[in-house]
Amino acid sequence: MRLDQFIATSTELSRKDAKRAISRGEVTVNEQICKGANTRLAGHERVALFGKLLNLPGERYLMMNKPAGVVSATTDSDHPTALDLLPSDITRNLHIAGRLDADTTGLLLLTTDGKWSHRVTSPRTDCPKTYRVTLSEPLTDAAAQQLERGVELHNDPKPTRPAGVKVLEERIIELTISEGRYHQVKRMLAAVGNHVDALHRLRIGKVELDTALRPGEYRELTPEEKDSLA
Ligand code: URA
Repeated sequence: MRLDQFIATSTELSRKDAKRAISRGEVTVNEQICKGANTRLAGHERVALFGKLLNLPGERYLMMNKPAGVVSATTDSDHPTALDLLPSDITRNLHIAGRLDADTTGLLLLTTDGKWSHRVTSPRTDCPKTYRVTLSEPLTDAAAQQLERGVELHNDPKPTRPAGVKVLEERIIELTISEGRYHQVKRMLAAVGNHVDALHRLRIGKVELDTALRPGEYRELTPEEKDSLA
């Protein structure tokens, strides 16, 4: 694809305005100013306008700060869903990459790209997920060590994979796990004799919940964020 065509397709600029932007030196290809509107792109280059990386329209990749009370589903007859919080013109073919319980808040990824969401959620890719966990009781050292080694969940004999534990406050920890079993964090804490009062997902792989997003708000992932989970 030609550079001017790429710019016109990935922004709201007309082909003519795209050519102007290119000749004014506003466009970079792999961080170098490129003034050739007819430059051929192979498809893997990083193209930016005024320093902002551009993606061709097609697959969509979003992060949302999921509020409590919203279910991680595309439809639900009884409760509002994460998709209900998005404008209807962008929800087509969108699905959730890694569900959260209705009362869990924080980072939710949504995409139209099934292969990408499979990589994010597949236990084989080992993608770490970090949660801020508010506990009903302070975490004992013994319990922290058990979580780090792996625990046996109720009705599930296979121990959990080793987890990362960081104590932030007496009853607040950060827990990093690389699996996604049903209610996993709540069941892990129950397995060590504690209880989760509140759960908030902070990070998936290198993608952090944008602190500028208020509950219910969303934004597109940057190309770097999207590629970091590829
Ligand atoms: N673990 C849980 O128990 N609940 C979630 O929503 C996510 C991880």
